[in-house]
Amino acid sequence: MIGKAARVASSLSALSSVLLTAAGGSAEGRAATPSIFAPVSTPAFAIRELAMFVLGITGVIFVVVAGLGVYVLVRFRRRRGDDRTEPPQVYGSRQIELAWTVVPLLIVAVLFLVTARYIYGVEGHRSREGALEVTVIGHQWWWEIRYPTLGIVTANELHVPVSDAARPTPTFLTVQSADVAHSFWIPQLAGKMDAIPNKTNRLWIEPLQPGTYVGQCAEYCGIQHAGMLLTAVVHSQDDFARWAAAQQTPARNDGDVQRGRTLFVSLACSSCHTVQGTPGNGVFGPDLTHLMSRSTLGAGVMPNSPENLRRWLDNPTALKPGALMPAMKLSPEELNDLTAYLLTLR
Ligand code: CUA
Repeated sequence: MIGKAARVASSLSALSSVLLTAAGGSAEGRAATPSIFAPVSTPAFAIRELAMFVLGITGVIFVVVAGLGVYVLVRFRRRRGDDRTEPPQVYGSRQIELAWTVVPLLIVAVLFLVTARYIYGVEGHRSREGALEVTVIGHQWWWEIRYPTLGIVTANELHVPVSDAARPTPTFLTVQSADVAHSFWIPQLAGKMDAIPNKTNRLWIEPLQPGTYVGQCAEYCGIQHAGMLLTAVVHSQDDFARWAAAQQTPARNDGDVQRGRTLFVSLACSSCHTVQGTPGNGVFGPDLTHLMSRSTLGAGVMPNSPENLRRWLDNPTALKPGALMPAMKLSPEELNDLTAYLLTLR
């Protein structure tokens, strides 16, 4: 468990530094840190509170136990001139046995009751008027993000409005999986929520501060488990409206890149990927209608640049081993045409 947590933590910090470099540093809000101790959203505040409470109690236990241990080691260490006889052996002290049974029992009861209260508090929240509804679907190895009420489909980046006292806008997430179990986790916004095949889970967030926050799939889901970065971009209300309006526009149909567009439609690309306004309506891979509005490729494995895009089209598994997108064996000219077309999908 500890080994897994350490690996998740190190892949998180590596991915967040990739992302920060790609974005040229976070323009708004705090720098991204995948830490539960830097919450910016309502259920995450409660999670930090609970974590501090549990850490406090276990910290006191640690100090008492380790302190007694050190005291005994020093006080009763072997000294020169000891006669090597055993000290008196004590059995059957009812007081001591009662104390070390009842005190831990009380501590566990307190931890249990307080945790249960926090869980009920967080899960008891129901969607209400003004809330944004988002569906998040875990795939091997990327996140599909749908806004059913806005008619938007994107991938790997969750865009939500900030919530303020004047206009509270919490976001309610429906979490599902297309294949195996994943876990949706953006530590600064909320706790983990498993994405489980054939089951629908609910999670909510109410971020109070604009900014970019990173997270990561938190349930081992195959070879690219570590290659499932999540980014949440919390916008001001106006910025969110602008983002949504841009995402709602159909894909550009640029006359200069018709050869690439024809390739996209005639090759197998369009059976896995959707580009609104073309015959491409596949749902196995990410929706590409506004591909270039996203900051990374391959769910966070590299910055979304023209060079990386061309390399990705040439051979995805060279950049992300195990990725389910096949290499299409394109000629250099075809690669150029297809890249040029995709670059227009802003
Ligand atoms: Cu998806 Cu781990």
